[in-house]
Amino acid sequence: MSNMFKNINLSKSKKLFEEAQKYLVKGVNSPVRYFKPFPFFVEKAKDCYLFDVDGNRYIDYCLAYGPMVLGHANDNIINTVKEQLELGTAYGCPTEKEIVLAKEIVNRMPCAEMVRFVNSGTEATMSAIRLARGITKKNKIIKFDGAYHGAHDYVLVKSGSGALTHGSPNSPGIPEETTKNTLLVPFNNEDAIKKTIAENKDEIACIIVEPVMGNIGCIPPKEGYLKFLREITEENDIILIFDEVITGFRIAPGGAQEYYNVVPDLATVGKIIGGGFPIGAIVGKKELMENFSPNGNIYQAGTFNGNPISVSAGIETLKNLDNEFYTQTSKTAKKISDFIGETAEKYKIPNKIYNVSSMFQIYFNENEVVDYETAKKSNTERFMKYFYGLLDNGVFIAPSQFECCFTSIKHDDEVVEKTLNAIEEVFKSLK
Ligand SMILES: Cc1ncc(COP(=O)(O)O)c(C=O)c1O
Repeated sequence: MSNMFKNINLSKSKKLFEEAQKYLVKGVNSPVRYFKPFPFFVEKAKDCYLFDVDGNRYIDYCLAYGPMVLGHANDNIINTVKEQLELGTAYGCPTEKEIVLAKEIVNRMPCAEMVRFVNSGTEATMSAIRLARGITKKNKIIKFDGAYHGAHDYVLVKSGSGALTHGSPNSPGIPEETTKNTLLVPFNNEDAIKKTIAENKDEIACIIVEPVMGNIGCIPPKEGYLKFLREITEENDIILIFDEVITGFRIAPGGAQEYYNVVPDLATVGKIIGGGFPIGAIVGKKELMENFSPNGNIYQAGTFNGNPISVSAGIETLKNLDNEFYTQTSKTAKKISDFIGETAEKYKIPNKIYNVSSMFQIYFNENEVVDYETAKKSNTERFMKYFYGLLDNGVFIAPSQFECCFTSIKHDDEVVEKTLNAIEEVFKSLK
């Protein structure tokens, strides 16, 4: 490791990794956090920076995989959480703050008439699928190759994110009976959906889709594709679920459904609405949501659902997502992604770069990336060289070709300039 980097010393991280491995599998608690030969260990974070235990500082474009839109350790979030800490941290009873956050969500997101808070995006998609199956009394679901909807059994097939990065897109341990009802289709392909629906007439409960595929890099939907999904689901009594755990409140105030002007029946959200604390939510049309227990009989529950700390931080976060936030974060992401593309061209490195609002990713690939198969043909080895190079130059992105980069409100002009210099430095020697 020591000779991998010219500028950073990771000796304390190395020691911690050796210790961590004794107790934690590969030293981490989520596979995406591991990269070879060992990850740096974080001491603290502020604004757009992560600081590791060896005193290195990194400009952060991973942002905890999305939630930190206001940057790390935001003062207002700290204050609101401190106030809530004094008032108690879990009650097992409802609070007014849950109404406030639910209202903020309903006011922003077009499909959201009601909300059920849970603790993670994983729980949100699991429960949304259960809701769709319970309402329609059908078992099959359609999921896209390479989409990641969390780490639960219905959806861990041909999965993106860490599952793909670490070579287990189809995880062992999931009974075939569980996933035989998960029908897989390539993203951005109308014929595949038509065929799958025709072959499984009246058996499909829902289609679950990441409107922008953010767990296999950053793949935008082709023009009209989401509208096509809306129409074909309506024609066939299939519930359309947008998994907006990444895109929700990030790419527009109302998420991808506002950005692309297509309203699903249900959506799953998370990350941003917890302001850096654990959360998830299922949102959607009242007539569907009311089927959740205790009003209906589709069971969903959680000791920490609507946890007051997460909810307080979420309210404070959403309050700050004004027009300026969306203009600035998208402008920053566009500037950086344009520069990456131009620099890659300058150094004759085959590339395709995609940017939607404050999300972006480069693929080391000669051809357009539109789905799982095309994404998988990218040069992942070169991507890791790019990753290590950026790290050595003080920039942290998620350590995989199959993740996405994000900007926050704290990535200002000075930080962007530093980032562009680091990018130039890396491409100079990228092979
Ligand atoms: C689109 C999408 N859905 C669901 C999830 C799962 O969310 P969580 O990690 O909070 O369980 C993720 C996590 O990255 C995600 O990106």
